[in-house]
Amino acid sequence: MSESQNNVVLSVKDLHVYFYTNQRCNKVLRGVSFDVKRGRTLCIVGESGCGKSVTANSILRLLPELSRIEEGSITYYKEDGTEIRLDQLEKNGKEMRAIRGQDIAIIFQDPMTALNPVFTVGYQIEEMLRQHKPGLSKEQYKKEAIEDLADMGIPAPDIRYGEYPHQFSGGMRQRSMIAMGMSCDPKILLADEPTTALDVTISAQIFDLMNDLKREHDTAIMMITHNMGVVAEMADEVAVMYMGNIVEYGPVEDIFTNPAHPYTKALLRSIPVLGKGKNQQLEPIRGSTPDPFNRPKGCQFCPRCDYACPRCEEEMPGEEWVKEGHYTRCFNYREVMADGK
Ligand SMILES: Nc1ncnc2c1ncn2[C@@H]1O[C@H](COP(=O)(O)OP(=O)(O)OP(=O)(O)O)[C@@H](O)[C@H]1O
Ligand SMILES: [Mg+2]
Repeated sequence: MSESQNNVVLSVKDLHVYFYTNQRCNKVLRGVSFDVKRGRTLCIVGESGCGKSVTANSILRLLPELSRIEEGSITYYKEDGTEIRLDQLEKNGKEMRAIRGQDIAIIFQDPMTALNPVFTVGYQIEEMLRQHKPGLSKEQYKKEAIEDLADMGIPAPDIRYGEYPHQFSGGMRQRSMIAMGMSCDPKILLADEPTTALDVTISAQIFDLMNDLKREHDTAIMMITHNMGVVAEMADEVAVMYMGNIVEYGPVEDIFTNPAHPYTKALLRSIPVLGKGKNQQLEPIRGSTPDPFNRPKGCQFCPRCDYACPRCEEEMPGEEWVKEGHYTRCFNYREVMADGK
């Protein structure tokens, strides 16, 4: 096994997830592949509805009843070399429950899905700690839980410790959930838009804590975000998603300076870039995302693409390797890369 393979802690291959609602099938993930590496941060970006949360929830098998993993694999590589096929485990079986929170933690996009309204926030953090660090005294658990809240910048943590989720503000709930997710030093942290409801200084503190986790425990982070500024600051690798596919994947520098997919290019043109001054021309991406029940036949981005050719209308491009570690799903990527626009 090569060194790079050794570093892979989670590998998702050709994942297909379909939702069945009102007798219709929504092919939400249509062959998603990526690796998450120890001690590195993978950021997943893409428009609303492209399948980012479904990707994260599939890993921990937290998909709703009306959905199914149809094809593909999700493999977790433990430090001792054991491989666990998460997609084959029983959804709520013992093994899956042991992995959730301990080995792989998730910070949900919506904090109310993670916090239980009938227990105090302090109690819920302690529950996580009890599982991960058994054998401490009651006082020690309490002390650690309060410290975790303080780390998240929650004022008067000793009082807040005894309160219920509904007594917290939205931002405070989000921070408590992050505290729960990070408290057990997971091997993989899946963070779904972790700081959208938080102000800039608090977000910066939380990103610092994530980076500490990464440095001290070699935790791999998979972070979903809309914010390209966050990507620039946090990511080692970036996956760009569009309509259920990763259309470009690569090291953050390459994605920003040498994008090889028209959607990535358009995404970068649609947001302000720090350091380019006040007069930058921002261009919204033309057209809108297609109806998932009425998709284009070939490349999903084709109707909005400036580089489209007749082949794009017929076929979804496969993964074209631009160089080692950087792929794109575009037939015309050479032209895209050569074009200075
Ligand atoms: N519980 C559900 N029931 C039915 N369809 C769902 C459900 N959850 C997600 N979907 C569908 O799956 C697709 C992808 O949703 P997902 O939540 O992964 O988007 P996302 O990329 O996380 O978007 P956002 O940036 O808005 O959070 C959408 O078409 C959505 O309608
Ligand atoms: Mg989402």
